[in-house]
Amino acid sequence: MSTDARKVLITGATSGLGRELALRLAAQGWSVLAHGRDQGRLDDLRREAGAAVRPLVADLASLKDVTKLADLTTAATDRLDVLVNNAGVGFGPPGQRRQSSADGHELRMAVNYLAPVLLTRRLIPLLTASAPARVVNVGSIGQVPFDPADFAFERGYDGTTAYRRSKLALCAFTFDLADELPASAVTVNCLHPASLMPTAMVREARTAPISNLDEGVTATLRLITDPGLAGVTGEYFNGSRPDRALPEAYDPGFRAKLRATTAELLADYI
Ligand SMILES: NC(=O)c1ccc[n+]([C@@H]2O[C@H](COP(=O)([O-])OP(=O)(O)OC[C@H]3O[C@@H](n4cnc5c(N)ncnc54)[C@H](OP(=O)(O)O)[C@@H]3O)[C@@H](O)[C@H]2O)c1
Repeated sequence: MSTDARKVLITGATSGLGRELALRLAAQGWSVLAHGRDQGRLDDLRREAGAAVRPLVADLASLKDVTKLADLTTAATDRLDVLVNNAGVGFGPPGQRRQSSADGHELRMAVNYLAPVLLTRRLIPLLTASAPARVVNVGSIGQVPFDPADFAFERGYDGTTAYRRSKLALCAFTFDLADELPASAVTVNCLHPASLMPTAMVREARTAPISNLDEGVTATLRLITDPGLAGVTGEYFNGSRPDRALPEAYDPGFRAKLRATTAELLADYI
């Protein structure tokens, strides 16, 4: 493989959208750092994709493991062109009870929001050194408002609402980070890849798919590779179409509260 291959880190590369992105980018000559939590399934991916894929193992439900993933990444490469925060926990099966991460946080908020925030912040020096670089956050159109003071979501819990809260938080983070980083160095965007693709999380929720995987893959690949999106930052896309996230994601009051809560929860790690 050429040493000047572009480099991408994809979280959640052992399943669904992330796995297909890894396969397609490897086939296009990218060097793929493929994150998963299961070495055996990463080995399967590597057998299928070839030597362009380098597996990195970490459980994103553990903040310590998230920092390990950042360290593994910086040890594996001195350049990172694109970080794709794709891994996620879905609605869960109907009637899903509240679950906690290794650190005691609500699981969906931990994996879908705290993990990408921590991973991205830890990788900013590498991304900045690789300018122009991109961060692609895989969000969802399914966002709901919440009070950051109720981050723990201990009362009135349901998995679907927890998922949607975490995806609003991910949008808000996207826009905060885009404001912080010069677009000439690192662009930061968020997308809803496609609605109800036939992946593990949709099967687990016992919901009927309405899109195919290819729709989400095409939309996400565009944010990763399209030269026409150079310098485009702080945007939310519904598939390939620029769209608006929930109003709270643009609300300075909501964003400040969420930032303060997040800073407190990640204080030992950032
Ligand atoms: N499917 C849809 O219709 C849809 C719609 C909108 C947005 N999205 C978003 O698209 C992204 C990809 O989802 P998908 O549809 O491809 O679902 P998926 O097949 O269930 O993939 C989810 C990925 O996240 C990983 N993951 C979950 N918990 C983890 C943890 N604790 N540590 C490390 N990795 C973890 C999974 O790992 P394992 O392989 O080990 O389980 C898997 O690779 C998610 O962010 C999702 O919210 C999907």
